[in-house]
Amino acid sequence: MLEDAFTKVRISRDLYMIRANDLRTAFFEGLWEIPEGITYNSYVLTTDEGSVVFDTVKNTMIDAYVEALSEVVDLRDVKYLIVHHMEPDHSGCVKKISELGEPIVLGHPLVGKMLKSFYGFTGKFSPVKDSEELKVGEYTLKFVYTPWLHWPETMVTHIAEARTLLSCDVFGSYGVFSATYYDELPGFEKAKYKWFMKKYFATVIGFYRDWVVKNLDKLSSLAIDPLVVLPAHGLAWRDRYVSEVVGLYKEWGSGKAEKGKVVVACLSMYGFVKKAAMDLATELGKKGVKTLVYEFTDTVRSNMSDLIGEIYDSEVVVLATSTYDADAFPLAKYIAHLISRKAPREKKILILAGYGWGPRAGLEIKSVLAQAGFSELKIVEFPAGEHCEALGEAVKYVE
Ligand code: FEO
Repeated sequence: MLEDAFTKVRISRDLYMIRANDLRTAFFEGLWEIPEGITYNSYVLTTDEGSVVFDTVKNTMIDAYVEALSEVVDLRDVKYLIVHHMEPDHSGCVKKISELGEPIVLGHPLVGKMLKSFYGFTGKFSPVKDSEELKVGEYTLKFVYTPWLHWPETMVTHIAEARTLLSCDVFGSYGVFSATYYDELPGFEKAKYKWFMKKYFATVIGFYRDWVVKNLDKLSSLAIDPLVVLPAHGLAWRDRYVSEVVGLYKEWGSGKAEKGKVVVACLSMYGFVKKAAMDLATELGKKGVKTLVYEFTDTVRSNMSDLIGEIYDSEVVVLATSTYDADAFPLAKYIAHLISRKAPREKKILILAGYGWGPRAGLEIKSVLAQAGFSELKIVEFPAGEHCEALGEAVKYVE
């Protein structure tokens, strides 16, 4: 892992990556815990007709970004600044770069309005059309709209002569690594990186999974077949690994579950629900079913980002919850809400609820999930401290 800093890498003769390594953001989008950090990757193409900058970084790193960028290119020489996506982790320094030179900012038509609204941008903006091409020096840039990956204005750029795709959030990941390319990681780090990538997909892109498939098909139909993929988060992909990352996106985009994968979210106030959840995991273990348990108790608070990352491709989810104020435990309702936003619908969900004076939590959680389109839902409730009978029913449903 790297300290919070910038990395500058020459990707090819005329193409550079300026990578901001952010280990300070604790909650990505103000929501998702990322102890592994995140990078914001900006790219620069130098040509004999001027330079092109693709995306910037979060504005908390603005001074260091300007310094790093200035070491690669004279900012007065930047002819175009391409905005693939307006989320501020990439658009945060657009105004500043525009003021330090005279670039024409290019992007989806929505970008112009959003730049004005987000930052009071008054520089030069020119909208690009879907699949429009722009010649700069010896390079041809093709801009392709990729709507809802994951905002409506998102687009990618293909540099034909370099067979390189600048994909912004698509194929991105959490995590800060010293490597530039995924293939440079040793085996165990590759597995870790794929987990960070899936977590990023589930939390940021997963809600729009249908659009993943549509947009990948669109790129294929335009005969875009890159040798290098440069996302705006995480590591770059090249050569035979490009088809690997495309394959991962196809798999996750399909919403297909991993066979036999069971994830338990365990929300326990005083230990009764935890005992039931752990007994359930033990009983399932005896039958060869492995469960991943994420605890939320009076001493432990798991990361929601990890939980949602694992739930995304699970076959069965167990939401084990206490009852609270004649309702589900508040965090359980929040998790049900996150599942209803982020997870594919084709899962079995067991609501295992403990109660003191009367059952209620099960129905409350079920209504959130049923409303979101989940249909395989089962409630098993038990009086706190007496979960033996419930356990048998729960095991039968999950296994
Ligand atoms: Fe990395 Fe959607 O911004």
